[in-house]
Parts: sequence; C-alpha cells; structure tokens
Amino acid sequence: PDKIKIGLLGLGTVGSGVYKLIEKQKDEFYKKAGADVEIVKILVHNMDKKREGVDPELLTDNWRDIIDNDEIQLIIEVMGGIEPARTMILEALHAGKNVVSANKDLIAEHGKELLDAAEERGVDFLFEAAVAGGIPIIRPLKQCLAANEIDEVIGIMNGTTNYILTKMFEDNMDFEEALAKATELGYAEADPTADIEGLDAGRKAAILASIAFHSRVVFKNVYTEGITKISAKDIAYAKEFGDVIKLLGVAHNTEEGIEVGVYPMMISQNHPLASVRDSFNAVFVHGDAVGDVMFYGRGAGEFPTASAVVGDVIDVVRDTQYHCTGRISCTCYRTTPVKDFKN
Ligand code: NAP
Ligand code: HSE
Repeated sequence: PDKIKIGLLGLGTVGSGVYKLIEKQKDEFYKKAGADVEIVKILVHNMDKKREGVDPELLTDNWRDIIDNDEIQLIIEVMGGIEPARTMILEALHAGKNVVSANKDLIAEHGKELLDAAEERGVDFLFEAAVAGGIPIIRPLKQCLAANEIDEVIGIMNGTTNYILTKMFEDNMDFEEALAKATELGYAEADPTADIEGLDAGRKAAILASIAFHSRVVFKNVYTEGITKISAKDIAYAKEFGDVIKLLGVAHNTEEGIEVGVYPMMISQNHPLASVRDSFNAVFVHGDAVGDVMFYGRGAGEFPTASAVVGDVIDVVRDTQYHCTGRISCTCYRTTPVKDFKN
C-alpha cells in the first residue's frame, strides 16, 4: 500500500508527542520507509477533554472502532497499564496488525505472550520506547551487540526519580515539590508510585536483562527499592562524602545465575553516572568483545519518548513495504531462562 493507516491508543503525554511528530514528519515517511502514513483514529478515555490541534472527528472512546477496523494496519499503544491494553494488543496482533508500544508494565509481565502472538501472525511487535525513553537501547542490545556475551547492564533507568534526586541535591528542593514538578513535566507515570518505589525502573531492568542475557526475567524476579525513604539529611550526608545518590538498575549474568535489582546508591561525584542529571537516563553495558558501552539521553517526556515510538513506526512501515529489516521482535522473551535466578 502507498499509505499505512494507523490507530493510536492514547493521547496523553506520549500520545500527543507521537501525533505531533507524525504530523511533522508526514512528508518524510515515503522517503524514509516507502509509504505515507495517516493516523485515522485515536482512542481516549475522556471525550470532553480539549485536545489542541487534533481533529475531534479522529477521537473515539470505543476501542472496537480501531481494533475491528480492517483498514488499520498499525496500532500504536501509548495508554499504559496492563488491562485493557493487553487485550487490545492481543486482538490487534491476532487480526494481523503490527503493534508499537511504550508500555513497560505490560511488556515486563506479558512480553512473551505478546511476542508469541506477533510471531504466530508474522507481524511486528516493537517497544523501543519502553526502556529509557528516547535512548536507543533495545535494538542495540538485540542487534548491534549480538556478537557479545553480555554480563552486566547497569544504569539510571527512571527519569522521574533522577529528576527528583537532582533537584533535592542541587536546589535543596523538597521531595514532594520535585515530584510535583516531574509530574507537571510529563515524566511521571499515571500513578507515580511506580516511579518513586523503583517499580518502573525494575520493569525496565527486567526487559533489558531478558534481552541482554537471552533469558526471560519477569518483574517478580527483580528486587526493588525506591527513593521514598531518602531525606534531605541523606542528601547532605552524601554531599559531605563527595558523593551523590542515584537510583540504579543493576543486572548481572554470572556463573551462579542472573541477578536483577533496583536500589538507591551513593556514588562518587566523579563517577560518570553522577553527571546524569534531571530526567536524563544512562545505561552501561559490558560485553566480552566490545568492552564497556554507555547509552545516554533523555529518559522520559513527550518528544524524547515520541522519537523512539515513531522510530519503531518507521521500521514497521519499512518492513511492511520492503521486508528489509526482518522481524526484530525479541526472541529471547520466548525462550526459557538459560540460567537460574539468584534472587
Ligand atoms: P498519560 O499521559 O496518562 O496518557 C494516557 C492516555 O491513554 C490518555 O490519553 C488517556 O485518555 C488514555 N487512556 C488510558 N486508559 C484508557 C482507557 N482504558 N481507554 C481509553 N483511553 C485510555 O500517559 P503517558 O505518560 O502518555 O504514558 C503512556 C505510556 O507510555 C505508558 O505505558 C507509560 O509507561 C509509557 N511511557 C511514558 C513515558 C513518559 O515520559 N511519560 C516514557 C516512556 C514510556 P484521556 O486523555 O482521555 O485521559
Ligand atoms: N515514568 C518514566 C520515567 C517514564 O520517569 O522514567 C519513562 O519511561
């Protein structure tokens, strides 16, 4: 087809960014991917909300208008949560539609089920935006670093908590105020408990460990501890020692097994991770052939996340038109764990 029709599920922080970026890139799609694209329907919860720059005719609060529409070949899921997102994506995949999602909660719990459904129908299920916002990390792990035995993936995987810790450290801002600002800036999850209790970073660490270690780490295998107990006193204590406090996701693949956890750590102000400020994320990967590689960039927010989502969309369109990228879904999610978990 000369034009791929898209159904967008969700028009919040990420959905709005995706809509605007696709509109901005409209004339570039053919050049980049061999077909034009058009968002033909958008699912929202509240039909009365004002949506600047969006044709109200596109909006629906009935997901059947999208999933049952045979003209729609590609679904972008940016609603969040497990249900009803899981059911919608499964139905879309079973109907032979490609799906792009930013939903780490869902992928960390049900990645295998979704990827199996995609494989069964020979369609794509891509989720580059689910980990570290705008930073390319899923594809590099899966493709560019595929020749390596990876034994370590560590880093700052949550923008909201990094923003809060930065503001507490640099501006003596109080925790609640910093969280409110992170929410206002569109970094936090709909329920920010997931951010501040380390659950969001835990889900991302599970996804990265699954891909990096060719295993299947689900969220319940991940130890999580957040930043809610960190006080101004702890920050002052860290400063006194020339340290900063960062919430780190840590995944190791050792002889004894796979270990994945999220916890706050004091690290030296000279450490490269100490300079990762605000909503930025950074992920270090160690592979036996390549050595250390660091990925750095904006880990949350409207356009950084839309960048990753629309990148996946371009890949799906290119794949649909030329069958040139191959199916880059993550087969690791389909395998049984290669090693026991330590924790
Ligand atoms: P958000 O601002 O809360 O937006 C969610 C959107 O989905 C809203 O438009 C909402 O409709 C719609 N929605 C939710 N549940 C629905 C339902 N049951 N039926 C119909 N519509 C529904 O969330 P977000 O920050 O954009 O995040 C979306 C997804 O991207 C999440 O999975 C999140 O984890 C992930 N993500 C977010 C970021 C980020 O920086 N924010 C980065 C990476 C990944 P209404 O507008 O009517 O309320
Ligand atoms: N709430 C998430 C964060 C969004 O702050 O990192 C990006 O995944």
